[in-house]
Order: sequence, then C-alpha cells, then structure tokens
Amino acid sequence: MPTTPSSNPAEALRLIKPSVLAQGAYTLAAPQAVRKLNQNEAPEDLDATLKTAILSRVAARPWHRYPEFAPRSLVDRLASHYGWDPEGLLVGNGSNELIQATMSVVVDRDDVVVAPAPTFSLYRLLAAVHGARYVGVPFGKNFAYDVPRLVETVTRERAKVLVLNTPNNPTGSAVTRRDVESALQATTGLVICDEAYVEFGGESAIPLLAEYPRLVVLRTFSKALGLAGLRFGVALTHPAMAREITKAKLPYNVNVMTLEAAEVVLDHAGAIQDRVAGICATRDQLIRDLRTLPGLTVYDSAANFCIIRCSAVPARVVFERLFEDYGILIRDVSAGVDLAECLRISVGTPEDMAAILAALRTILGETT
Ligand SMILES: Cc1ncc(COP(=O)(O)O)c(C=O)c1O
Repeated sequence: MPTTPSSNPAEALRLIKPSVLAQGAYTLAAPQAVRKLNQNEAPEDLDATLKTAILSRVAARPWHRYPEFAPRSLVDRLASHYGWDPEGLLVGNGSNELIQATMSVVVDRDDVVVAPAPTFSLYRLLAAVHGARYVGVPFGKNFAYDVPRLVETVTRERAKVLVLNTPNNPTGSAVTRRDVESALQATTGLVICDEAYVEFGGESAIPLLAEYPRLVVLRTFSKALGLAGLRFGVALTHPAMAREITKAKLPYNVNVMTLEAAEVVLDHAGAIQDRVAGICATRDQLIRDLRTLPGLTVYDSAANFCIIRCSAVPARVVFERLFEDYGILIRDVSAGVDLAECLRISVGTPEDMAAILAALRTILGETT
C-alpha cells in the first residue's frame, strides 16, 4: 500500500532529537523601552566619527567578493591586544558562534558538561543539542564561586567540559585566575572560560593559555567594546585546539563590515577603556545607592550589571511597574536556579541609573 504523505508537523517533529525537543529556544522578548537595561550592552553607541570611519572603509571594499576568513592584520592586532599567539586565535560572528563551535568539536552524546548554576543559558541549550548531560553546580553564599564543588562534580561525573563564566552572567561573581588554574590541575577535561564581561572586573585566564592546552578563553566585542549589533567574538586557545575548533565554524561568518569595525575599535581601545572605567564607577555607585533602598538585597558584581533580590514587593511586580510606569526595561531572572525574586539590572548611563533609583524608591516605598 503506498503511504500518503502527511501534512501533520508531528510527523516531522518525530525526527528532532528528544533532547532538543525538551529545551526552550534561546529567545528574549524585546519590547521598546525608554531605558533599556536588560541585555548588558554598552550604554552608549560608538562615536559618530568612528561609525563614519567604519562606513567609509566598508564602502571602499568590494561587496561582491567573500570576506577573508580572518584577515591576517586583524588577527595579529587581536593577538597583541589580548597577549596571545595569533595561531591560537579564532574570530567569530559573536562569541556565541565560538561557544557553539567549541562545544560541537568536543561534546558528544552522553558526555557531561558542568557549569555553575545559574549561568549563561546557552551552555545548557548547546549541551542538549549535542545529546550531552548538563550538570549545574550551585554557587556558595552571596553567589561566590564554589570551585572545590565544581571540581568535585567534574571528577565525580567524569565531565568532558567545565564552563566558567567570569564574571558570571547573571550573578556578577568572578573566579580568580588561581582558581581557574586549580580547576585545570585537578581535572582532565576542557575548561571554557567565558570572559564576556572581564573588562569590567575579575581576572583573565589568558596568562594560563601557555601552560594549559585544555583551556579555551572566549572574549566578545559586544559588551565593553560596544559592538553588540555587529557581532564579533574571539576564542583564544592552543594553536592545535584552534585548528580543530575551526573545523566547526561556518566559512565567511564574519562579514566585511564587522571585520572593518573590529579594526577601527581596536584603533581606539584607549578611549574605550576610559568608557569602561566610567561604567565601573557607575556600577559601584548604583550598588551603593540600591543598598539604601528598603526591601532589597543587592549583591556585589564585577560585571556591568547587578542582581537585586526583592523582599517587600514581588520581583514580577517591580519588573512590570518599572516597564509600564517608567519605561525602564530590566531582566526578570527570577526563574533561575537560586534566583527566586531576583532581577538583573544592566549598568546604563548615570541618567538611567538616577531614573531607576527614583522609580524603585517610589515602587518600594509605596508598600513599606
Ligand atoms: C556570558 C556570555 N557569553 C557570551 C555572550 C554572547 O556574546 P556575543 O554577543 O559575543 O555572542 C553573552 C551575551 O549576553 C554572555 O552573557
């Protein structure tokens, strides 16, 4: 009997791996807000003069030709910027692409990936896509990294990968280089140090690369360097590992505009560093100011965001009122592990911070 093709999507979905069906997609509702403090982006756009410089460089390039995979001059400049071997440096369409490439050459079905919980959710999702088991390890008191417990878990589970996001999204906790080294010494799997926020605080693991080929350090131009919209990230590892990770990267993923923009931003790294210092000062002031408000626990942070825990007014109410009454969009992270009643606030301009403080004072003051 000939079978009749069915138009029922359930037939097609049967082909999807169960581990993928079980996950939610990485997504984020993006309502327009007067003050956008939900994605840890740079609070201010690149200077108009730099944008013009990038655009004129892009205009001078042929658009009908593929870009180079990674222009030698840019790779050499990145290598000297980060202090690592150009042969061990990969560029990607955002660091997300490099997380994916790294995991896809290492993580096989039934492998174990260990990471602190809560952390950046893409790791869990990609572990599932590769059929791996993901084991989250809680932080200690006040979201301090519990490295002995992470190491113990990696050993017990014979994990293939340990992810250390430092400073960690969403908690802002940083791990010391010494602790990264102790984790490398005590384990035999891959250690991924995701340093998306390290320009704002904490220590980089880059100096450990020379001694530990099992280490991959990820950096991004999306946060401190202010290029989230153009998508550019960097992976640093031993050249032998870089050659393997390259195999999982799609060709030509970094477009001409992004390659030019990365060069121009590197030309102005000094000015950007000044901006980063300003953001760190704003963060420290924000944390001090938030601590004067009633009904909140405010956690320390080494990143360009911080976590608050609401006790007087439910976090969901605070989140909604900030958005609806004041046009301030922050991130509701309260569904995360150990994050009940928690909200994440990205550090914005000093004006953004004054606005959120005034709004919180009203929202919290009204009910206490
Ligand atoms: C920890 C962490 N890693 C990586 C990324 C993604 O960065 P990119 O924009 O370079 O893909 C983010 C973005 O929020 C992040 O929080």
